[in-house]
Amino acid sequence: MFVKKYDVVIIGGGGAGLRTAIEVARNPVLKVALVSKVYPTRSHTGAAQGGMNAALGNVIPDDNPKAHAYDTIKGSDFLADQSAVFFMTENAPEIVYELDRWGVPFSRLEDGRIAQRPFGGASFPRTVYAADKTGHVLLHVLFEQALSKDNIDFYNEFFLLDIIQNGERVKGVSLYDIKNGEVVILQTKAVILATGGFARIYWFRSTNAVGNTGDGQAVAFRNGIPLKDMEFVQFHPTGLAKTGILLSEACRGEGGYLINKFGERFMKKYAPEKMELAPRDMVSRAIEQEIREGRGVGRGAKAYVYLDLKHLGEEKINERLPQVRQLAIDFEGVDPVKDLVPIRPTAHYCMGGIHVSNFKTSETPLKGLYAVGECACVSVHGANRLGGNSLTEILVFGKFCGMAVREYVEDVDYREIPAYEIRRYEDFISSLMKREGNEKLAEIRSQMGEITWSKMGIFRDEKSLSSAVEDLSELLERWENIPVNDKSKIFNTNLIELLELRNMLELARAVAFAALYRKESRGGHSREDYPSRDDEKFLKHSLLYYKEGKLILEYIPVDITEYKPAQRTY
Ligand code: FUM
Repeated sequence: MFVKKYDVVIIGGGGAGLRTAIEVARNPVLKVALVSKVYPTRSHTGAAQGGMNAALGNVIPDDNPKAHAYDTIKGSDFLADQSAVFFMTENAPEIVYELDRWGVPFSRLEDGRIAQRPFGGASFPRTVYAADKTGHVLLHVLFEQALSKDNIDFYNEFFLLDIIQNGERVKGVSLYDIKNGEVVILQTKAVILATGGFARIYWFRSTNAVGNTGDGQAVAFRNGIPLKDMEFVQFHPTGLAKTGILLSEACRGEGGYLINKFGERFMKKYAPEKMELAPRDMVSRAIEQEIREGRGVGRGAKAYVYLDLKHLGEEKINERLPQVRQLAIDFEGVDPVKDLVPIRPTAHYCMGGIHVSNFKTSETPLKGLYAVGECACVSVHGANRLGGNSLTEILVFGKFCGMAVREYVEDVDYREIPAYEIRRYEDFISSLMKREGNEKLAEIRSQMGEITWSKMGIFRDEKSLSSAVEDLSELLERWENIPVNDKSKIFNTNLIELLELRNMLELARAVAFAALYRKESRGGHSREDYPSRDDEKFLKHSLLYYKEGKLILEYIPVDITEYKPAQRTY
């Protein structure tokens, strides 16, 4: 085991972690550790396809940050905190110009300005993009910027075991070095969690990387930090039918149609104005409704509707949607240039996450602990995120979190971490390695995937959710009896998957629990037994605590400064 000291430790090497690290490291005397369980350029930000929202007004000059804010708040079904939304939309344009200066190869208009495409729920074409590989190019540019800072040390392929704290303040983190099985302690003044989302709890149908297991959220939760608005999970309308792999919203932004088995553009019934460019929660429900009522192709788990891109023509598809075309060919065996593409909604994004108590700093209720990106709940997405607002969020709040942490660490000292606290993590790993038991990891993970999809998916009700809570609690008990069959210390993925599974099970249960008690339908949370939004009882954020093994739910008010909740039609 070794112990090292850093002023700041950032957990997560995706867009949020990198952008935050770049900002902290602007003070050259600060020592920064950036920890990632994968090599940073393999982080899930690289999977973001369609783009990032910022009201540049390049296509329609009338666009502005206020319109962006209103679209975001309406899209959120009025659950977003409005001051935080305005903060994001006002800072978004400068973030884009900064990325441009750093070398992100944004797609361009003919006059050379950054191009913008329409996205769901937006009143102007506002999404900047690089064909359909926006996250990929952005991640590489951010990594390059971070590499150029001498005061950032990279801990690649290290897994977060725990935050070390004294009930008042963060003191460090414990990590597991995946490459050699050693436990590593980093003593620090501030920890920033930027570990991404956990939509892999929907194990069989998700756009997320298999590593999106919510490690930061689960560690924070076990440390007494509340999780906010966990009931809100986003299902992206256009996952490939067989695999759930993402086909970007840009397909519809560029003019693609959704059609049922009769060739009808069914969105005209559900969102007559916006049609295919209604927000994701509405489009996903519409697709499922078509399937339920027999207008999809096939029945049950294998049913689907079609995405039709043929009329866009080969040239436009190759220029704007090259990755989409390749994914459809490779994973569905159809070519969008000439074929209809079978699609169905797929788990995509978690609106809920670690409770951030101050959006300007991204601090959490524990001093010295911060959270940014999808692992955090600021909240700017409320009950439903608009496509393209995720990259905006990670970059805006990453930057400002970095600035706040830079100041915070100037006035605090390191806190001692006694040897016995350190040994506890080595003991934990060796107890897992010695575990005996007859449960099977893959079996429990599959059962989790079946429960999440069938009992807490796009549509839910009291019966399905209470049964999900019960089933997931049982799986958590069974988790204790899963042995680690691989005894190696070198790249032991068996052990990592075991740790990830515990994190997913705890978060899945948190989603089901919070969803059970929200007796209304709002955004991505659609209760068949409570089909309407109920502002009187539920215009509030849920806060879920994990105390002495029990789940405790509280609620806090939504910050409403500008726009009163209104009926949400598109
Ligand atoms: O559809 C997409 O390209 C995904 C974008 C997003 O989730 O923001």
